[in-house]
Amino acid sequence: MATPALTLQHVSEFAADVRDSLTKSGQRELPSKYLYDEVGSALFEAICVLPEYGLTRADTRLLQENAAEIVSRVPSPVRVAELGSGSGKKTRWILEALSRRQITYYYPIEISPHALAACEKELAQIDMVSVVGHEKPYLEGLRTVADGRSERDHLLVLFLGSTIGNFDRDAGDRFLREMREILRPGDALLLGTDLEKAVDLQLLAYNDPAGVTAAFNSNVLARLNRELGADFDLSCFCHEARWNYSDRRIEMHLRSTLRQSVRIPAASLRIVLDEDETIWTESSHKYKAEEIPEMAERTGFRCEAQWIDSEWPFAQNLLTAE
Ligand code: AVJ
Repeated sequence: MATPALTLQHVSEFAADVRDSLTKSGQRELPSKYLYDEVGSALFEAICVLPEYGLTRADTRLLQENAAEIVSRVPSPVRVAELGSGSGKKTRWILEALSRRQITYYYPIEISPHALAACEKELAQIDMVSVVGHEKPYLEGLRTVADGRSERDHLLVLFLGSTIGNFDRDAGDRFLREMREILRPGDALLLGTDLEKAVDLQLLAYNDPAGVTAAFNSNVLARLNRELGADFDLSCFCHEARWNYSDRRIEMHLRSTLRQSVRIPAASLRIVLDEDETIWTESSHKYKAEEIPEMAERTGFRCEAQWIDSEWPFAQNLLTAE
């Protein structure tokens, strides 16, 4: 497979985002979407098979066990769009169930070209399924898919894996409202949400003893070195997962173990990090099951059904656009 081109526009947007988020007053940050380059996407796939990270297995189990019922609640004919498909492995169950009743058009929307290519390859093999990937930001991709359908086609949007948890709660509401604007009444959204559980389990899920999550987190600095010519010394940072009690989320940080200066030439930037200063790289918000129907109501949806895994608290929520 060819390495996708890093266009000038990609690089300059990346550089500008890095500059803004690293020079913010107060806590320095990096946008979590930059965790997912080819290496990051591969490390995330490894995280998904860690015994400590039950999230993906719970997500997949719920889809596998309830695919027929989920699909029976979705209007017909329907096209499927998935936001952040990743490898698309767990989507197979939904597509197989749907393809028993109709030819199924599936549109994975994904910013990682490697993940997108893997997903297209994996799912195009299912009989009666046609796959067209879009390498675009979520809502831009969804708009393209929504504009390309006929009057009679409904949409089923898949937003799985608790990716919504990467948004702050307010931003999550804003995102769902924007999504709702693109949809028509009766369209469906299958939303996966990781539920609150014992704090020690949550921390372990983001700080596994084998250090896979630490590598996933640190890779964002290695990526800045590779793509923006930065000179981060990865041995001077350590991975940290925190539970934020007031915002009910896991935060991943990279802690600078000493006072150090770092150059990022493509962003025309030099920063000085204090000893113990952190760069915040990701939030994973956790939910109470009752929160989801409320979130739906606030954003123009209704929660039709909810399936909760019995091993790892995680909910699959089927929302309908009102
Ligand atoms: C794919 C964003 C849902 O937040 O749990 C896994 C990413 N980060 N381990 C999550 C992740 C660290 C994951 N999401």
